[in-house]
Amino acid sequence: MRLEALPGYHRALTFGGDARPGSALLFGDNLRSLEALERQAAAQGVPAPLSACYTDPPYNTGEQWELPSGVVAYDDSWTDDAEFYAFLRPRLAAVHRLLSPSASVYVHIDVRISPYIRVMLDEIFGGGCFRNQITRIKCNPKNFSRRAYGSVTDVICFYSRTPAAPGPDPMYWGDARAAWSPGELDRLYPKTDADGRRYATTPLHAKGRTLNGPTGEAWRGLMPPEGKHWRRPPADLEELDQAGRIEWSSTGNPREIIYADESAGRRLQDLWTFKDPGVKRSRYPTQKPLEMLEMLVRQSSPEGGLVLDPFAGSGSTLVAAERNGRAWIGCDQGHPSLAASLGALASDERAAFSLWLPDTEMLAGPAPFDVRVEDGMLILPAGADESLTLVAGVDLSTSRADALHRHGGHWHLTADQSAPARVLLVREDGVRTIASVTPRTSS
Ligand SMILES: C[S@@+](CC[C@H](N)C(=O)[O-])C[C@H]1O[C@@H](n2cnc3c(N)ncnc32)[C@H](O)[C@@H]1O
Repeated sequence: MRLEALPGYHRALTFGGDARPGSALLFGDNLRSLEALERQAAAQGVPAPLSACYTDPPYNTGEQWELPSGVVAYDDSWTDDAEFYAFLRPRLAAVHRLLSPSASVYVHIDVRISPYIRVMLDEIFGGGCFRNQITRIKCNPKNFSRRAYGSVTDVICFYSRTPAAPGPDPMYWGDARAAWSPGELDRLYPKTDADGRRYATTPLHAKGRTLNGPTGEAWRGLMPPEGKHWRRPPADLEELDQAGRIEWSSTGNPREIIYADESAGRRLQDLWTFKDPGVKRSRYPTQKPLEMLEMLVRQSSPEGGLVLDPFAGSGSTLVAAERNGRAWIGCDQGHPSLAASLGALASDERAAFSLWLPDTEMLAGPAPFDVRVEDGMLILPAGADESLTLVAGVDLSTSRADALHRHGGHWHLTADQSAPARVLLVREDGVRTIASVTPRTSS
């Protein structure tokens, strides 16, 4: 779906050209954004455009989540539980309405409230759409004094839009695998060939006699054992042997060679280990691991599909979708989230998306920080570099994302940028301004 308009919003910025304009960052309260999206999708004749959704809402923790600088990223305090659940329910229901019949949703939540969310999701989606409750190991064991066991997991509720039923399952399902651990490799592929490749062998016959057909016939004078048949016709067995893929035992028993490096890995179970990135590697509190989000995106949406994250935070789901060739829609109402998402997406040079702001919100106000432009250089005040999480070279008139180059504490226009560039600067608290940089005059 190409987002052509959005009631109550304006397209404030198109970033990185028009290559995949389906991707959009919607700033503001997500109930309003999702309802606007629904109206627009219906108007464009695609009422349920989403391939998949990952959502990691507030968890009713009662905490204010802060950036290391002390800027409040978002406030997760509520008058009472009822207020929190009344907030979440219509948002999950709006997500449900936007999902296509082959779509699925991952709702990431903590262990304390996950039972209530399961009930809510059963009500909205129907119990038949429940697929898994995934337990995620989120951190290393903790040292603590509380009288309880260490809490190292959280929960992801996985539901499909259409119930699983006998017959073909409409839900999109990829083939994501996890790499074998060294222990698993030793157990499953115990042998090593002359080139150092790990392998295992499997029998070339299987249960059941073939009465009339090549898999019941002799191969190289060998009949399949009593009550069994060859897994492949003798001509194919011959080819396999010529290719060096059969190991013959000392008693003349052939077995097929299966190499570990040709295996796709282990099928994923409902216990995952994807640890949170930690404060030093995060740009946002409660940021989830990119590898996990990339895996979800590949597993549950086709290439070119549309992935939603209605509580986008750091924008990691959007980056995961972008990296894997999916279009995306991200919503968040926090200015720090907008800064973090723009920062993350701007550093991906292939990212192409539009930023939609509510009609009441401006893209940029007058410079709240002291930025000087001198002879083709953007000069930031001392210390501003840490608080300016995005100083992207965004030419707002031509949508070029690479107009600026960083050098020391200064930003220069790239050599081939002959026209003035208008550059969007976003501070980590989300305060924004636009600076115009003109090419350096050579004297
Ligand atoms: C747990 S964080 C999401 C973190 C994210 N998954 C990540 O990896 O960075 C929840 C987010 O929901 C946002 N949020 C809370 N209420 C919202 C609302 N009504 N509309 C849009 N976003 C909201 C907050 O600003 C916050 O960024």
